[in-house]
Amino acid sequence: MAEDSLLITNARLVNEGHVTDGDLRVRNGRIETIAPSLAAAGSETVLDAAGRHLVPGFIDDQVHFREPGLTHKGDMATESAAAVAGGITSFMEMPNVKPPTTTRAAVAEKYARAAGRARANFAFYIGATNDNLDELRAVTPAEACGIKVFMGASTGNMLVDKAEVLEQLFADAPLLIATHCEDTPMIQANEAAARQKYGDDVPMSEHRLIRSEQACFRSSSMAVDLARRHDARLHVLHLTTAREMELFRSGPLDTKRITAEVCVHHLYFCADDYERLGTRIKCNPAIKTAADRQSLLAAFRDDRIDVVATDHAPHLADEKAESYFKAPAGLPLVQHALQSLLELYHDGLLPLELIVRKASHAPAQLFGIADRGFLREGYWADLVLLDLDRPTPATDATALSKCGWTPFDGVNFRSTITATLVNGQLAWQDGQLTGAIPGQRLNCNAAR
Ligand code: DOR
Repeated sequence: MAEDSLLITNARLVNEGHVTDGDLRVRNGRIETIAPSLAAAGSETVLDAAGRHLVPGFIDDQVHFREPGLTHKGDMATESAAAVAGGITSFMEMPNVKPPTTTRAAVAEKYARAAGRARANFAFYIGATNDNLDELRAVTPAEACGIKVFMGASTGNMLVDKAEVLEQLFADAPLLIATHCEDTPMIQANEAAARQKYGDDVPMSEHRLIRSEQACFRSSSMAVDLARRHDARLHVLHLTTAREMELFRSGPLDTKRITAEVCVHHLYFCADDYERLGTRIKCNPAIKTAADRQSLLAAFRDDRIDVVATDHAPHLADEKAESYFKAPAGLPLVQHALQSLLELYHDGLLPLELIVRKASHAPAQLFGIADRGFLREGYWADLVLLDLDRPTPATDATALSKCGWTPFDGVNFRSTITATLVNGQLAWQDGQLTGAIPGQRLNCNAAR
């Protein structure tokens, strides 16, 4: 048997709603065979899963890897290393870098930067502004995985707030539109009121009231209305409130024109955590109440939420330690995202098959990613071996993101990411990066 073949034996394969015992052979980067029992041949490398769970890799449709221009916080090499350590085998990266990725040429440049440096597979969004409509009209599904629209201001200066631009954009966008929804004028009014009350010393517990439920709902409902009127393909990113769940319907993904994403930190944390973690968990949209968290989990279970992602957004610890207004929003998450979802599995809140559907199958379907996201013969071998019975502590000292800290510092996760394969190559094994840099460009088709 050729050396490029690997046999994984005694695995519990989690795929398409089922958990089955079996073996899986990888050859030339792809899954060649899945069967109840396969015999190792010749000098074939064998990886005995010893009853551990094997899942398709997490496809993260929302990360900020900070390149170009913000590479003191992270870059494609460092953040993709953290990603594979966390079982993320593909990432889709956002345009709020320096300069912002708002032209097709700038997107192409990002693909060139990632090639040979990314440990996970990659795709890039093009960003909308108030004045790049012609560029957006010309973009093809092969050039970018989607159009990112900041309908609320966040890190970077990319707010699209002209009503006529939004109308034209939703009318003409040739690709899926992915929105950050928070109403900026409402947030600015809330910030002014908080400043009046507290001066610069605003307590973190105010963040969810400043970046309020109403600000989220106004903007998300506007995006949904625009998409309906123009029959656009809309994906609303990082939803955070019970009220916004009214805007989405459950049902099979392939029947939807409007889809919804939730991020791991909004499922794992809630407002009760601000006192302990402070600006470390400052993010936009804000982490809301325990009741909101419960509603997000319910919507995850009944399929009003279609996809789970991270919104991985590294900032340096010094920057995060500033006071409320100065501390930037965003958390490093890729390394521990899957482990945090598995905590929800251990707590009986989310079945394993459902986590795999929202983290792997759904993003592949939603973005038309060829031959990934499932354990299927002929598909790329993007695989994660999970030990659900072996704990792993998370600490700042073991954080792989360039920013060098994690919001999960001190958490003893009940699971371990034993191994991560990207395109058939081991990228992470037994707590170590292997040195392989197997990431490839994703072949997406998120056409309107
Ligand atoms: O908290 C956030 N951080 N939300 C965003 O929308 C952007 C991100 C970042 O890039 O820092």
